[in-house]
Amino acid sequence: MTTDTKGFYVTTPIYYVNDVPHIGHAYTTVAADILARYHRLRGDDVFFLTGTDEHGQKVEKAARERGKLPKEHADSMVGNFKALWQKLHISNDAFIRTTDEEHIKIVQELLQQLWEKGEIERRTYSGMYCTPCERFWTAKDLVEGRCPDCGRLVESIEESNYFFLMSRYRDALIEHIEKNSLYILPETRKNEVLGFLRSQPLGDLCISRPKQRLAWGIPLPFDGEYTTYVWCDALVNYYSATKYLAPANGTEGKWWPADCHLIGKDILTTHAVYWSTMLMALGLPLPRTLFAHGWWTVGGQKMSKSVGNVVDPNAVADRYGVDAFRYFLFREVTFGLDGDFSENALIRRINTDLANDLGNLLSRFLTMAEKYFGGAIKRPVSYSMVRFENEFGAECINALSGAYREEYWSRLHFNLILESIWDMIGAGNNYIAREEPWKLAKSDPDRLVTVMYNLWESLRLAALALYPFMPGTAERIWKQIGLRSLTDEVRQGLHGQSPEDGNSLFQWGGWTPDYPVTVARGEQLFPRIETAGKKEEKTQKAEKKKERPAKMEQGVQELIGIEDFAKVELKVGRVISAERVEKSEKLIKLRVDTGEERQIVAGIGKSYDPEYLVGKRIVVVANLKPAKLMGVESQGMLLAATDDEGTLSILALDREVKPGARVK
Ligand code: MSP
Repeated sequence: MTTDTKGFYVTTPIYYVNDVPHIGHAYTTVAADILARYHRLRGDDVFFLTGTDEHGQKVEKAARERGKLPKEHADSMVGNFKALWQKLHISNDAFIRTTDEEHIKIVQELLQQLWEKGEIERRTYSGMYCTPCERFWTAKDLVEGRCPDCGRLVESIEESNYFFLMSRYRDALIEHIEKNSLYILPETRKNEVLGFLRSQPLGDLCISRPKQRLAWGIPLPFDGEYTTYVWCDALVNYYSATKYLAPANGTEGKWWPADCHLIGKDILTTHAVYWSTMLMALGLPLPRTLFAHGWWTVGGQKMSKSVGNVVDPNAVADRYGVDAFRYFLFREVTFGLDGDFSENALIRRINTDLANDLGNLLSRFLTMAEKYFGGAIKRPVSYSMVRFENEFGAECINALSGAYREEYWSRLHFNLILESIWDMIGAGNNYIAREEPWKLAKSDPDRLVTVMYNLWESLRLAALALYPFMPGTAERIWKQIGLRSLTDEVRQGLHGQSPEDGNSLFQWGGWTPDYPVTVARGEQLFPRIETAGKKEEKTQKAEKKKERPAKMEQGVQELIGIEDFAKVELKVGRVISAERVEKSEKLIKLRVDTGEERQIVAGIGKSYDPEYLVGKRIVVVANLKPAKLMGVESQGMLLAATDDEGTLSILALDREVKPGARVK
């Protein structure tokens, strides 16, 4: 790599080692990983930093409770974070610990500079102090002269401390935020900070703690009786890491300022105000973007140990898969807003977006590739035809422009990027329904080559665009469509190729491996997850059926009243998947979305190929008692017409009506 390649530096907060990581920690770190991988994919040199915040009162207290020295305690906790990052496929380039000697040295150097520049002042003041809570209170805060937190008596004490003269930078900070539209994102957070800064004078920041009150911290370089306030030590990590942990190929200025500090909304003030003003006082450039995301709640409640609702990211990843978890976090909720976590919502995403849309597209493509071409995908003879002739190509190009839109990436609109990728996946499934490759196999083999190539190309581009979000899945698709390794491709660097390039790996038809490529089915990407509720429902239905065997009606009336017709509940159903029932020529088992999902077995196997049915909107009798056909349960039936020869024609809708809509 050369030194002039663009550098992209992204950070996560450094996490306190007082406890084990939860979903909130995983959220920020996966977000940073998405950005890091995206920039590597674009050929930028990337420095992705995460780490742990190990000094201060919280950590000292946690260590005391475990009967350990603070450093011992920190050493024993760091592994939890490192192991989780490995499990979640986090590609951080470095891991900083604030107990690193190099970091400590840099914190002291910077504090010394501020001291010498007159940016720090010693002040003596008196206040009300709660010793057990280790906190100062103002007279206003007290409740009947007692600590508002623990209710114990407070003491009036006099103390000297060091203050960073932050108030000096209020106007400059307001101006910086106003002038740099990407400095604080999302927009609502920027307005919050501006509102806070404009509405009141900015105070100075106490940056020291007397050693006897808090020994576990970095000693102030100019007064050994004091330790550094933990935030002044922690924030410096972003800068200190560039001096001893950043990739060696950086020229001076390559890794600072950082491009993006990702943080949660609760630590916005410390970053937007403390860190920004510290950098101003040091004469260092400010980071390009601070992005403050929202919080996850569980069942609408704040996560807390005492409620017992803390989500363990290890368990979620083990149970549902790393990529499904990563996908869910960024598709379910707009990045920046709060969101509620539930396993049901996660399962819904897995079953619809991942299994039905993405998994099905790949699987249908592979089945056809194997059936028609023995797995070999050729490039069609007339290449320019592929590029411009078809509507599908245009749909994909359009979706890709969303997936790589500069504005989406600079503002971290992850859900819009994912939606764009899903537009392409949806277009792929519709393309199969429209082109009916199984008919082309008989009527127009040349066109079949083009259609299959187009599908291959859309899967290749979907894998590439998915790589930042779901690196494991992207790699699996890449390999199943006959390519070597996307991870290696990215590692070797795609320099000179960017989504904006007219002729590159990122473009529709823009990349030419040696054709034919031989595709090979691998493990299913996302097996569907059956929920306990659904299973129970099925058994109940089966049992009810045993209790009340369906009576055959004797005799048929010639005419029926409208009230009789109204008894039949007809609904629109979208076919999610279709396969033949084993050992039966006639029966096809369909999974149909009729507002809720159901399985229908239909005797249409002599008239239809299962593949043809997928994606079709059909008419289903929804309130029919379940029945078993060759041992397979059917929850309803579809409507079809028969001609004299016994050929069936299913009733399909000619417009896109929502699954579950009533047919009357
Ligand atoms: N050590 C400080 C950060 C110093 S950065 C110079 C710290 N650590 S933390 O471990 O308490 O929290 C780290 C991050 O987790 C914060 O960004 C916080 O917003 C995030 N989250 C904690 N709970 C969360 C949720 N319930 N949901 C989403 N993120 C949450 O603060």
